[in-house]
Amino acid sequence: MNRRTLLRAATAGMAAALRPAFAADADIELVPTTQNISPHIYGHFIEHLGTVIYDGIWVGRDSKIANVDGIRRQFVDDMKRIGAPNFRWPGGCFADGYHWRDGIGRSPRPRTYNFWQERLPPGLDHTETNQFGIHEFMRLCRLTGAEPYLAANVGSGTPQEFHDWVLYCNAPTGTVSLAAERAANGDAQPFGVKWWGVGNESWGCGGDMKPQEYATQYRKFVTQFPAYAPKPYLVAVGPRGHSRDLDLSWTTGFFEAMQGGHRSVVDGLSLHYYTDFRNSKEKVSTFDARGWYDVIREGLRTEAVIERHWAAIDKFDPEHRTKLIVDEWGVWYPPGEETAPMHLLSQPLTLRDALHTAVSFDVFNRHADKVVMANVAQTINCLHSLFLASGDRYTRTPVFHVFEMYKNHMGAQAVELRARAEQLSVPAATGSAKMPGISGSASIKDRRVTVTLTNPSLDAPLTARLHLPGATAAEARATVLTHAEPSGRNTFDRPNEVTPAPLAATMRGNAVEVVLPKHSVASIEIRV
Ligand code: AHR
Repeated sequence: MNRRTLLRAATAGMAAALRPAFAADADIELVPTTQNISPHIYGHFIEHLGTVIYDGIWVGRDSKIANVDGIRRQFVDDMKRIGAPNFRWPGGCFADGYHWRDGIGRSPRPRTYNFWQERLPPGLDHTETNQFGIHEFMRLCRLTGAEPYLAANVGSGTPQEFHDWVLYCNAPTGTVSLAAERAANGDAQPFGVKWWGVGNESWGCGGDMKPQEYATQYRKFVTQFPAYAPKPYLVAVGPRGHSRDLDLSWTTGFFEAMQGGHRSVVDGLSLHYYTDFRNSKEKVSTFDARGWYDVIREGLRTEAVIERHWAAIDKFDPEHRTKLIVDEWGVWYPPGEETAPMHLLSQPLTLRDALHTAVSFDVFNRHADKVVMANVAQTINCLHSLFLASGDRYTRTPVFHVFEMYKNHMGAQAVELRARAEQLSVPAATGSAKMPGISGSASIKDRRVTVTLTNPSLDAPLTARLHLPGATAAEARATVLTHAEPSGRNTFDRPNEVTPAPLAATMRGNAVEVVLPKHSVASIEIRV
């Protein structure tokens, strides 16, 4: 093939032909669709793990750190700023050992065992104090405008405990006693929880089950679901998508077991996809070109995972009543670079992780017909975090800025992005590998087109020309996130080291042109 031949790639809307490390162009055609991008794709996951909740989010009402009813004020403000659509809570693996009654009412609340205790270095205590329970969680949701997404305990709980939690959350006062108990604990108004996860990773820490065993549990847990408003959106445990074989047998096994006259509704299938470098020598904050491209390429694999599981569901549910809920995603590096020993699984995220975030969002946006929700793992002091916090020290990571730069896509109408650009040839374990020379997604809302583009090249800028067939650009402006160093990151002492900056967007006839610096992500807004 002629190296400069430009081909239109199918699913990703991306291009073919090969680009080594020199400057190139991308021609991009923007074609509106009728598909809305669910705002919940930009969702969050917070677990009682290390310092995600305690110290990260919950500082306590008596803390000197600025707080709203015990919740770190800066966190609330930043979550509002990016329009956080939801929080998944309380786990993760913690959820299947959590008994919600421990987290309500009396003070002090009982101290209970935390699943993550055994992962902490010896001498550190992870006893769960239960200071942050359902009322505190709902306070966080209400303060930020986010919707609650609760993960129920299937692994060590019962259907009764689950149903009681639903009643406690959703029954209006004046109905069942659990509603009166909720009111006595300070919340007369029902919490109105719509999103319910029925367990977490039931193939692992959530019960070590086979898909058929889990299907039986799922049916038992949902059949007597108390029917108070709102109508629930029930999410079944799905595959470990980052398994080498993509764990397709979980999806198939689960849906097979749900056939044969069973009628339990499955609104969403949870899919976990970690860009999993745990068993590698990759470092978070220092890496070479190969490490840079490996992480971004591995992140792009989420597209195939989504497509393959969607196809597996198709055999049982051709109408696709069940959608995908990617309720844990992010890069997971080997341990060793935590902010502090108690900050279990925390990582000093860099520009590389910001670009990984961008290409992941592009995939979710492009598959907005399949993906209803996605939750980054996890929002603060953890793997793929938007923030690091310790006592009164706090910083936004480069990942935060990508959430902000992609905010316009939330609830917008998807625009197909047909890019013609050359592929990159990049260093890899096998010598070299090919990858798309550009990643992108687009949407339109209120006559404003938002295009988000990533240039993953470590060597060369990329000129992108955006064509809007049938529309005239009235105004265009752009923002870019990059840094002189691909490993650039924000620290407590230098919190603005990696921060967005304006980018020139030039109107040329009906097209808008931007020059994406090397290793950058850009957001372009065009008024039409
Ligand atoms: O996000 C950390 C852990 O990863 C979660 O608790 C678990 O669900 C997953 O394995």
